[in-house]
Amino acid sequence: MSRIAYVNGRYRPLAEAAVNIEDRGYQFSDGVYEVCEVRGGRLIDERRHMERLARSLSELRIAMPMSRAALGVILRETVRRNRVRWGIVYVQITRGVARRDHAFPAPGTAPGVVVTARNLDLANAERLAAEGVAVVTVPDNRWERVDIKSVSLLPNVLAKQAAREQGAREAWFVDRDGRVTEGSSSNAWIVTRDGKVVTRHADHGILKGITRTVVLDVLAAQGLALEERPFTLAEAHAAREAFITSASQIVLPVVKIDGRPVGNGAPGLVATALRRDFHRHAEAT
Ligand code: PDD
Repeated sequence: MSRIAYVNGRYRPLAEAAVNIEDRGYQFSDGVYEVCEVRGGRLIDERRHMERLARSLSELRIAMPMSRAALGVILRETVRRNRVRWGIVYVQITRGVARRDHAFPAPGTAPGVVVTARNLDLANAERLAAEGVAVVTVPDNRWERVDIKSVSLLPNVLAKQAAREQGAREAWFVDRDGRVTEGSSSNAWIVTRDGKVVTRHADHGILKGITRTVVLDVLAAQGLALEERPFTLAEAHAAREAFITSASQIVLPVVKIDGRPVGNGAPGLVATALRRDFHRHAEAT
């Protein structure tokens, strides 16, 4: 079955789907995106993803190209046409097409909209969750507004590649003070020796993950102690558990950081329980 993409008003086979080379997303990374989990063909946490999308657009002064309801219809139709049962739907909105000039194009320039969807390998995801994954650390060299989910992801690309080259699944960014901010495409968490769950507070210095938000609800429901604050790399090395969260990976235990085992080197109880309970707290529509 060939995959189908939505591009600026039309559904096209992926091989024929194209954008103008003067699209500002292509020229300047001048755009934003969202990734939603699809589970049983339904969108997970669509409302929160759409809210964050609207916020990212507004921070960059890009117009929302259509109503959230209309965008929801396109997301669902793209999922349906690609027969996605478990996977992701991706939406990208750019500032549109204009002759290359750094400053904003003329008011009224139509934003560019692309939506794709694909199945993920469920068996592989379950294997990763059962075995846990390795992370490596890299300096956080990103700009100061990573709360905006912009398609400008070069530091994240380089960080992820560094992880792959060291046989790891994810890279954790570490700031100048030696504190972990987040992963290249996920939020970062530890569980301390005395059982406190720690993740960095969400300001302009991390992306406020939707999975992160739901996990906070799961933690409250499970009665676990939470500290929203930065944690150091030393704390991470001394932690009982570590894990990452993102829409496509849900909760994934981290069993190795920079080659050193976390806790007893196996997925932890907290991460496993959070993963198990996650969808009871997420919204499926
Ligand atoms: N990444 N931090 C960064 C830098 C991310 O790119 C992501 C998501 C997250 C987690 O956010 P959420 O829980 O809303 O998925 C945190 C997506 C999945 C991606 O780039 O593919």
